[in-house]
Amino acid sequence: MTLAFSLLNSAPEATASPAIVVGVFEDKSLSDAAARVDAASGGAIKRLLDSGDINGRIGSSDLLFGLPGVTASRVLVVGLGEAKKFDAARFQRANTEAARALKALPIASAASWLTQLDVASRDLDWKLRTAATASDHATYQYTATFKAKDKPKAALANGVRFARELGNLPPNICNPAYLADQAKKVAADHAGVSCEILERDDMAKLGMGSLLGVAQGSANLPKLIVLRWNGAGEDKPYALVGKGITFDTGGISLKPGPGMEEMKFDMCGAAGMLGTFLAVAQMQLPLNVVCVVAAVENMPDGNAYRPSDVLTSMSGLTIEVLNTDAEGRLILCDALTYVQKFNPHTIIDAATLTGACVIALGKHAHGLFSKDDNLAEELTAAGNATLDRAWRLPLWDDYQNQLDSGFADVANIGGKNAGAITAACFLARFTEGQRWAHLDVAGTAWDEGRKGMATGRPVPMLVQYLIDRCG
Ligand code: BES
Ligand code: MN
Ligand code: ZN
Repeated sequence: MTLAFSLLNSAPEATASPAIVVGVFEDKSLSDAAARVDAASGGAIKRLLDSGDINGRIGSSDLLFGLPGVTASRVLVVGLGEAKKFDAARFQRANTEAARALKALPIASAASWLTQLDVASRDLDWKLRTAATASDHATYQYTATFKAKDKPKAALANGVRFARELGNLPPNICNPAYLADQAKKVAADHAGVSCEILERDDMAKLGMGSLLGVAQGSANLPKLIVLRWNGAGEDKPYALVGKGITFDTGGISLKPGPGMEEMKFDMCGAAGMLGTFLAVAQMQLPLNVVCVVAAVENMPDGNAYRPSDVLTSMSGLTIEVLNTDAEGRLILCDALTYVQKFNPHTIIDAATLTGACVIALGKHAHGLFSKDDNLAEELTAAGNATLDRAWRLPLWDDYQNQLDSGFADVANIGGKNAGAITAACFLARFTEGQRWAHLDVAGTAWDEGRKGMATGRPVPMLVQYLIDRCG
């Protein structure tokens, strides 16, 4: 389903639409639009609030039919919660719930007055954007094989959908070659985008022994995907690097059975970067962007890498593998070294890197790591603006000695303390002198449970971040 949005300026009670949407608060106060509908209908909404049939709680919605004095045949009354607690997050929630309720109805359009609500320190533009993206999010369906007919209009929503679709696909379909094909398709469909795929032999010639160590246990060959958007002549590019482990069994350090199926989402960092890149290309942002995705499957096999192996990375640093399940950092380090050949202005990577990040921050905030305070603040602000939030954790060198090895320059795990931080510290060894930030999206990239779906995060934050860098 593809949504189209347009603005209208008319009185809700007099609007000819299959459905109109208005909000009411839990304390029985009415939004301006609800008050107009209520007055036109002789108090229909207030009566239902008084009787308790409508409670106004956040997340609730009630559909009223054929109100006298109201032109639209349906009125969807959306709960806004307590008036004094109404904020940006609840505004988003109310719009999501409205879209979810409307989606179930046999109608092709609706008109909403929720964007008239006051939200502290957010302007009308923000409310319109947030209403549109929240509606799109709520009406997304995992489509896989059947494609929406009409060409979608909103670039950010397209980027989010692309990321969600890639994340949700099963790992027997969405393998490294599939991701590479999707990237080629993005390039074929958008002028100004080029795509190059590095094969195993290309990576071997470049000395990517760390990435190839992870890849060697899988029958699915690894791919290094390089997408470039040229929107600003000779400017230094923004570099986006994604972890694309299309399935993470843990390798020889095999993961336990329960929950392993969730590791099809271990390419959501890559999906987020591809989605961000797609949105940038569709908006034709006046920036240069290079997106590098390390697409690899982590499998146990007769040829698999093993604990104690020492790998030589493209940077020359040697790595002692102490756990083959700490594979994300091993593919990212070579991708991070590789991307420096583009002389980037800023490097951002996104990865479902550590269970420890989920323990620290839960399912709500990305872990954000950077030694550059400005970059960390810019990303935090973009996350706050889009409600796709990140929380900064330290990247102090105090943690580095947890990665000491007796047999190589660095070990690939840092012990039980501060697992998300030591993973970031590992990556920091490969980005010295670069303006770089790392996003650990292990908790945020998909929703919990058997039916949990990919969220498309951190596409909103990163697209906003890049928009903010334009002019
Ligand atoms: N892909 C996982 C991280 C992960 C786990 C993401 C659970 C989301 C939910 C990563 O490759 C991994 O296995 N990390 C290990 C690192 C450990 C061996 C140091 C982890 O977090 O347990
Ligand atoms: Mn792993
Ligand atoms: Zn992993």
